[in-house]
Amino acid sequence: MTAVLEAAAAPGTGRRAHLRRAAAHVLLGNWAGTATVPSRALYPHQWSWDSAFVAIGLRHLAPRRAQRELETLLGAQWGDGRIPHIVFNPSVPLGAYFPSPDFWRSSGTDRAAGAPSTVETSGIVQPPVHALAAWLVHLADPAESRRRGFLPRVYPGLAAWHRYLASSRDLGGGGLAAVVHPWEPGLDNSPSWDASLARVEPAPRGSFRRADLDHGSPADRPTDLDYARYVRLAATYRDHAYDDARTPHAFAVEDPCFNALLIASEHALAAIARVVGADEEAHRRRAAAATRALLDRLWDPAAGVFLPRDLVTDEPVAGYGVSGLVPLIVPGLPEDVAAALTRTALGPRFGLGRVHLVPSYDLTSREFDGNRYWRGPSWFNMAWLVHRGLVRHGETATAGRLRAQALDAAVRTGFAEYLEPYTGEGRGVRRFSWTAALALDLLQSSGDAYESSGDAYESSGDAYEDGAPGGTPGNVPGSASEGVPGGEGPAR
Ligand code: DGY
Repeated sequence: MTAVLEAAAAPGTGRRAHLRRAAAHVLLGNWAGTATVPSRALYPHQWSWDSAFVAIGLRHLAPRRAQRELETLLGAQWGDGRIPHIVFNPSVPLGAYFPSPDFWRSSGTDRAAGAPSTVETSGIVQPPVHALAAWLVHLADPAESRRRGFLPRVYPGLAAWHRYLASSRDLGGGGLAAVVHPWEPGLDNSPSWDASLARVEPAPRGSFRRADLDHGSPADRPTDLDYARYVRLAATYRDHAYDDARTPHAFAVEDPCFNALLIASEHALAAIARVVGADEEAHRRRAAAATRALLDRLWDPAAGVFLPRDLVTDEPVAGYGVSGLVPLIVPGLPEDVAAALTRTALGPRFGLGRVHLVPSYDLTSREFDGNRYWRGPSWFNMAWLVHRGLVRHGETATAGRLRAQALDAAVRTGFAEYLEPYTGEGRGVRRFSWTAALALDLLQSSGDAYESSGDAYESSGDAYEDGAPGGTPGNVPGSASEGVPGGEGPAR
């Protein structure tokens, strides 16, 4: 039996065993042969940052499958270094997701950007969580990682990805990467993009058909007007062969979360470089320079949060988006900045500890909508990132409460895509891959002081029946070495 199947079938009646089993079922059900789909219905292909988060959880069940997840994604990398936000599965009908491959036309794109000819992809990107994910996957089973040469295999692609972001995407010239479509920072319809998006001429009504509404409630999804603008931006980029220098970007923003992840991943790349014998110091220098740029360009001390910067107006975007809290994960962030961010998270705008997880937008603002995608709902990946940042800065009690809430909510909602922050009710689709994966990671996370400081989730007394507190990646028998059916062949 494979590792994931074993976990799915694992005995045990406690909450911990139940969560592990239920999460494994989700990840098993969403495995499509070479990678994991975020959701069978709504997102039936491979998504870039979803796969990175999936790998972070999957490493606890099947490190080799987690490696494969990232390798499949890197297999669709473009010659210019970009990792596309979607890698399309050719066996899925065109109408199952919009915009489909015939919209993006990646393989027919001018050779300059170097889109692969063997697989269809989108042309935009998503946040660079990948090097961080690769490093965490390696740490889950270093012996298996070494045996398969995982790090030497992924390092060149990850380094090229970071070079692309640092060069072609430094549209502001200030040392940060810009996003050129609201799907790129992953926070699609956040109020943070409203003013910038308002400048974009919507694509004509009736010129496209949304597939997302076949699976999601319209009240939980972006509006038709949002979509018309998303389509216009993507089509303009496509019509300029996805050339960053030539495209007249109507939307160009430096996003705090995107850049914080780039910095955290640059540190991870330094660690990977050390293992593979590449230049570790070059990555550390780039991470330090990007951290300075993040503080210089996006930190707003009066607001106590990082603000996106609109490069079209060259102005900060006012407002409190969860993206502005994510730099808590950045190694070496000045302690006064971290303390201010923590105060903001605990304050009325995000209500940490008083609402469910971390809302995606300011609870006190007129734009807040607790149901609609990124305009207020709480997402598990943001909770995972804020948890990681709180742990980094020694806020273990707050981190512990957030972790307990996330574990509880993941199971209670059937691994919902997101939550209404006040009621904690699930919204969007269920059996969502990164919700399952990140719950698993939070369940397994050891080494944070929280594990030994009293655990609300585990205080039910049945917590440890399937392993030691905190668990260890190795506690699924055979997880490191077995083949996995459905496409995963022997180690290459
Ligand atoms: C969607 O389709 O809703 C995604 O967020 C864009 O990738």
